[in-house]
Amino acid sequence: MKRKVTKAIFPVAGLGTRFLPATKSIPKEILTLVDRPLIQYAIDEARAAGIREFIFVTSRGKGALEDYFDDAPELENSLRKSGKTELLEMLKATNMESGAIAYVRQNRPMGLGHAVWCARRLVGNEPFAVILTDDVIAAEKPCLQQMMEAYAETGGNMVAAMEVPPEKTSSYGILDVGEDMGAIVRAKGMVEKPAQEDAPSNLAVIGRYILTPKIMQHLHRMKAGSGGEIQLTDAIAEEIRQGESVYGFRFRGQRFDCGSKAGFLQATVAFALARDDLRDEFAEYLAHMAAVQKAAE
Ligand code: UTP
Repeated sequence: MKRKVTKAIFPVAGLGTRFLPATKSIPKEILTLVDRPLIQYAIDEARAAGIREFIFVTSRGKGALEDYFDDAPELENSLRKSGKTELLEMLKATNMESGAIAYVRQNRPMGLGHAVWCARRLVGNEPFAVILTDDVIAAEKPCLQQMMEAYAETGGNMVAAMEVPPEKTSSYGILDVGEDMGAIVRAKGMVEKPAQEDAPSNLAVIGRYILTPKIMQHLHRMKAGSGGEIQLTDAIAEEIRQGESVYGFRFRGQRFDCGSKAGFLQATVAFALARDDLRDEFAEYLAHMAAVQKAAE
């Protein structure tokens, strides 16, 4: 029987070196897209997908992330007194119920697989979701919700997937496609960051997963894989080798790699243009900048 997925792991223990010096004192997940930190987008997506328990795998220096979800009584009082009800409601929507978030520490950044494994006791014997806050997905129906609906039909393990240019396969986990059923593919293998000539396809895994608890056992046995880190990809590949089902899900939406500077800037532009309160002024500015750039060429 397929069990309902109510737990999600948010691995947020990485060093975020691509955003230094900002990430010297600010967790990457607190960096803001327009006016909301990355983690807020991830939490909202999880909630929409029916997640009730939020497990953060954190590390040293991530205090701001933990504080972000607390009530802010002084701020709320001040907004209430000055009659800023809209802002107050928006602020309250970011508070998390006591006990809804659990924090576990990853003592050293030993890779995404290791970070997920750190949450094993909190996950127990239940299927769970993993959300990477770096991957922000603009979609009419949130990506994880799309996946949950597909998972209700398939069970097994499911990863979000999208086609990438062949020369980019070395930046992703790549699926070896067994059966292609359109939105859903059955994987017969999975490799981490293969060179273009070794890649079994150009269908890349991005940061949304629904996994069975057995993945934790694979991670437990795992030796360091590609790059000296414990890779989540290797544990999922092991699951396939043992004859278990792993599906890739081609989600509907646009994914931004907010773990990279270029991706973050693109997301900022796209999200700003999608906002009623910013669109006109911002579009005008962008058109102006494009004209200036052209004139300079
Ligand atoms: P990245 O590969 O983007 O690494 O991790 P990073 O440290 O966050 O960033 P850079 O590359 O140094 O700029 C992908 C996701 O896995 C988490 C990260 O927090 C991020 O959400 N992660 C990675 C961990 O939680 N622990 C790790 O040991 C590695």
